[in-house]
Amino acid sequence: MAKTFIVANWKMNKTTGQALEYARGLKAALLQNPVSAVVVIAPPFTGMRALAEELKDSAVCLAAQNMHPAARGAFTGEISGEMVVDAGCRYCIIGHSERRQLFGEDNHLINAKITAALNYGVMPIFCIGETLASRNAGETFSVLSKQLKEGLNKIPANDIGKIAIAYEPVWAIGTGLTATPGQVHEAHSFIRNLLSEIYGEKATADLSIIYGGSVTAANISSLMAEKEINGVLVGSASLDLASFLAIVNFK
Ligand code: 13P
Repeated sequence: MAKTFIVANWKMNKTTGQALEYARGLKAALLQNPVSAVVVIAPPFTGMRALAEELKDSAVCLAAQNMHPAARGAFTGEISGEMVVDAGCRYCIIGHSERRQLFGEDNHLINAKITAALNYGVMPIFCIGETLASRNAGETFSVLSKQLKEGLNKIPANDIGKIAIAYEPVWAIGTGLTATPGQVHEAHSFIRNLLSEIYGEKATADLSIIYGGSVTAANISSLMAEKEINGVLVGSASLDLASFLAIVNFK
């Protein structure tokens, strides 16, 4: 069965002190009120090590927001999969639309990062999603299909279940425009069907497909009511602990 993930993508927010204060509150709240979903925080690189210490006996896991595909070397400003693991992260967000749009990441580079993450035993949270222009042009499925096929190029079928797919329509990120549960259902069904066709039903049986884009405490319940939605990737609404807890404790 696919696991449910609730992931806080903090992006470029929070100093280590702010991150630790939040983590202590989250840990205590989950100890008192455990949830069945896997709760993950993706802090900036600078906070990872301290958070790993703080959260080591807790139910909260850590993700990096990015990693470089090479093992080591002259890549100023980058960190490797080995460093991600060493800093205490079991997950890594890969191919976020901000990385694609602002830092020029293409499907080829994203594929290399996914391959490297899997080699280090790190679960990629592989982000895909169409722009508003693509959606309006009726190209949503062809965009998703290309991102999936190129991003997962040469990944063996038995590794597909070790990846979580995050469907994040670019037009819904940071805009307050949430995709409707129906739109997300349609996209997630497309993703699961396509991957089942390519890799077989068995390979995708446990695959988690999560949604990101203006998720808040106000819309989490209607999104999670869709059985094709195996969790959420939350940006702005994850920065405040009370707001994130309201999402984590959705009914
Ligand atoms: P918002 O929740 O701020 O729209 O961001 C979504 C996102 O990009 C998560 O990765």
